[in-house]
Amino acid sequence: MKLKNQIALITGGGRGIGRAIAERFAREGAAVMLTSRTEAELRAAVAAIEKAGGNAGYLAGDLREEAFIPRLVGETREHWGEIDILGINAGIYGPMKPVTELSSAEWDDVMSVNLRAPFLLTRAVLPGMVRRRRGVVLNISTISAKLAFPLGAAYAAAKAGLLGLTRVAAAEVGRYGVRVNALCPGPVQGTQMWEEVGAGLQKAYNLTEAQLAEETNAAILQGRPQQPEEVAAAALFLCSDDSSAITGQAVNVDGGEAFY
Ligand SMILES: NC(=O)c1ccc[n+]([C@@H]2O[C@H](COP(=O)([O-])OP(=O)(O)OC[C@H]3O[C@@H](n4cnc5c(N)ncnc54)[C@H](OP(=O)(O)O)[C@@H]3O)[C@@H](O)[C@H]2O)c1
Repeated sequence: MKLKNQIALITGGGRGIGRAIAERFAREGAAVMLTSRTEAELRAAVAAIEKAGGNAGYLAGDLREEAFIPRLVGETREHWGEIDILGINAGIYGPMKPVTELSSAEWDDVMSVNLRAPFLLTRAVLPGMVRRRRGVVLNISTISAKLAFPLGAAYAAAKAGLLGLTRVAAAEVGRYGVRVNALCPGPVQGTQMWEEVGAGLQKAYNLTEAQLAEETNAAILQGRPQQPEEVAAAALFLCSDDSSAITGQAVNVDGGEAFY
């Protein structure tokens, strides 16, 4: 087991990529604390992990609310112990509109979940890791932080900002045994986010589902989307000692779509 006796806090752990990461980490011996707004999804994820013999807990809340962050970190520490792994995965795409039609409230909402919450979580958790001279932060960004797709300006900007946060935090804690990295997945099949974005793109460009899949896959060397479990496998690598010399990086899990 690669994460034996470790404590992992994973945001957005109730479904999609976050749940796949939680299940994988639990199978590798970590106790996982999950959070999102939808309690029913968190309860189901925890039940599945426990049924498979793992340890998991949850606290439901909204990461846009600043007061929720210390509560989440405090309850994780109280219940499980010091946090070894912080998986910042919760995210929203926001309304699919051209930048000229986005309201400032819509822009702020995307920033709040995708960039402000990661900052608040990082600020709350890093000092403990530095004190203990151990820990890993993993930010789930996206290939949209590196490539140009229309109708997602706030999402791309927030997620590119997240890569900046990743690099600077890594620079600040690198000498204290703490690593900070990011993953940049392409389209991840079966997730609510990709279903919603796909539906938005079909509508905006008048495409059938098959046409959209063909266009999307044509831009990917492997010619297919990614699976949540493939992102979870890369997350495990970056959160385990297998990647002990890797920090400040943004690793693409995109089947070959971007090349930096
Ligand atoms: N799916 C893709 O194709 C893709 C590609 C690249 C990157 N990503 C990134 O991967 C991450 C996971 O997304 P996913 O694909 O698994 O999509 P998803 O199924 O929509 O999951 C998003 C998760 O974030 C949580 N969340 C959203 N807003 C929140 C808030 N205000 N407070 C707390 N939790 C919140 C959601 O739970 P609640 O709604 O219940 O709060 C959910 O658990 C995201 O950061 C996304 O940007 C996804």
